[in-house]
Amino acid sequence: MHPLPVYALLNIELARGRGSIVEDVHGTQYLDLYGGHAVISIGHSHPHYVAVVGSQLQTLGFYSNSVRIPIQERAAALVGEASGYDDYRFFMVNSGAEANENAIKLASFITGRKRVVAFRGAFHGRTALAVATTDNPRIVAPVNETPHVVFVDFVDLQAVEQELAQGDVAAVIIEGIQGVGGIQVPADDALRGLDTLCSRYGTMLILDEVQSGVGRTGRFFAHQHAGIRPPLITVAKGIGNGFPVGGLLVHPGLGVREGMLGTTFGGNHLASAAVVAVMETLMAEGLQEQAAAAGTRMMEALRDIPGVLEVRGRGLMIGIDTAQPSSAIRSALVEHHRILTGNASTPATVRLLPPLNIRPEDLDRAASALRTLCTVEHS
Ligand SMILES: Cc1ncc(COP(=O)(O)O)c(C=O)c1O
Repeated sequence: MHPLPVYALLNIELARGRGSIVEDVHGTQYLDLYGGHAVISIGHSHPHYVAVVGSQLQTLGFYSNSVRIPIQERAAALVGEASGYDDYRFFMVNSGAEANENAIKLASFITGRKRVVAFRGAFHGRTALAVATTDNPRIVAPVNETPHVVFVDFVDLQAVEQELAQGDVAAVIIEGIQGVGGIQVPADDALRGLDTLCSRYGTMLILDEVQSGVGRTGRFFAHQHAGIRPPLITVAKGIGNGFPVGGLLVHPGLGVREGMLGTTFGGNHLASAAVVAVMETLMAEGLQEQAAAAGTRMMEALRDIPGVLEVRGRGLMIGIDTAQPSSAIRSALVEHHRILTGNASTPATVRLLPPLNIRPEDLDRAASALRTLCTVEHS
């Protein structure tokens, strides 16, 4: 049997990783500006991560949520401490899609309503409800189509209000920064307006921080730049640094009953150990601050390059629109400079999502490679 061929594969077989460098089976090293799709937050094989997860595996790898799991309680406490949301409750699952699925479900339970407002360009995952709020007809199967989801233009508050005023909207779901959609940063004012509208109409605002969370933008969550505190926040990717973890932060005032949500694997001992290691490293090494400074410097360097049309982002969540199709630039980065980057649904965009502790000299090397490629292609 072979893996199902649903992925467009790079012809690289990786054998090991350390920090922001991954190495293939032939010993060729690549600079990882993709972070395995925003997953590697504290770097590959971080010694503290290896120690904490390894030692948990040697004592107890798994038991279900039918018993108290002290390391899950520690993970929740540390997420609270690192994010500033220590009064919220944390529900752990295994992926970003699942986190969004549960957030929407909880919003519906709490409000007793069915409709959901999502934004054009959004990506919230591939499970039934999450994909229904994802703006990509290629990945929505007929069974996922539902009259309950309506799409409006990205942070068009008038369009949102028209929907909310009907009184039947359970949730509005929005990414802290649209990632797959090409690194679209919502204006802080727009997020504040959205938060106010949702409160006014009794609708739950769900902030999907799956890609933009865990310090990547220089704050623990991207929406914290706007100073809002939404009732439901979802996380995944960087919170596990490679171990599959998703999570839902739930405002303490929401009436959650026993049995409303549940999962076999979510929050198990190993997953919780991964979160503990990531949170401890993030705080001990000041990675949010590092991401903010590194991102500002990198974006300035990129904006100077002829052939770069636009640079968008915050911290180390960066979208670069190039004059030629980004696929050509990304291939040349791999082939000639051994640098991995991400794509986006907008064909001109190269996406950078490196580990938060990437070394400044590695970012300089990447900026100089991009300068060479974009300038040559542009002239
Ligand atoms: C913003 C956002 N939400 C949700 C998801 C889905 O996460 P997962 O693939 O872990 O289900 C992704 C994945 O790229 C994402 O970028």
